[in-house]
Amino acid sequence: KNNQQLSGKRVLITAAGTREPIDPVRYIGNRSSGKMGYALAEAAAVRGAEVLLVSGPSNLAVPPGITVKRVETAAQMRDAVLAEFDNVDIVIKAAAVADYRPELPSEQKIKKSDNTLTITLIKNPDILRELGEKKKPHQLLIGFAAETQDLLVHAREKLIKKNLDLIVANDVTLPGAGFNIDTNIVKLIHKNGDIEELPQLSKKQVAEILIDKIYAMMTKST
Ligand code: PMT
Repeated sequence: KNNQQLSGKRVLITAAGTREPIDPVRYIGNRSSGKMGYALAEAAAVRGAEVLLVSGPSNLAVPPGITVKRVETAAQMRDAVLAEFDNVDIVIKAAAVADYRPELPSEQKIKKSDNTLTITLIKNPDILRELGEKKKPHQLLIGFAAETQDLLVHAREKLIKKNLDLIVANDVTLPGAGFNIDTNIVKLIHKNGDIEELPQLSKKQVAEILIDKIYAMMTKST
């Protein structure tokens, strides 16, 4: 079996969570560790792809042969992704991007004073949706959906609204799935409506299966 199916392909993968500053020492973040995205980067590189990993803060080692661009905020992730989008064939967005950021981060550390503190948040750009609008016919766009209820309904909505070829839906309330663990339980929803349910697997196995599906999608459309 040819294991270099992705040779000559450029793959952009986003991983880990963004951090949105509140003041110089505090941020709004989420529980994404980068495990899912880094596993995908490794699986794509092993198959011969040229991989660019755009990563939020993560303690994980970058697998060999992968170019990494480190970012913190959603705005920085957007800049890094848009700078490369025209040059890549496949994008996989495993990152957990903050939907909102503090509107006016304080320049100084916020002092403890009143009993309540209100921080106004403002909407971040939806990076994946922008990519969906710019996507060229030769490009494949794969998103993730992290849901706590009505998994398939919400994931399908994202697939359509963001013009994706495939969405990987994880119910992050299930033990063995989601944030900051080594396994995941996902459903792959294709744009034609087909759904494939995978059992609990290591994130590395999920990544390998996903890369195989992407290869199959590429060969079907050429
Ligand atoms: O990193 P781990 O600890 O291994 O955890 C893995 C994971 C749970 C983070 C991963 O499997 C996952 O589900 N990633 C997507 C998390 C997420 O933010 O989902 P969402 O449903 O909020 O976003 C949907 C899609 O739009 C995602 O592909 C996301 O990258 C993208 N998005 C979201 C908001 C935004 N402003 N811009 C985006 O591009």
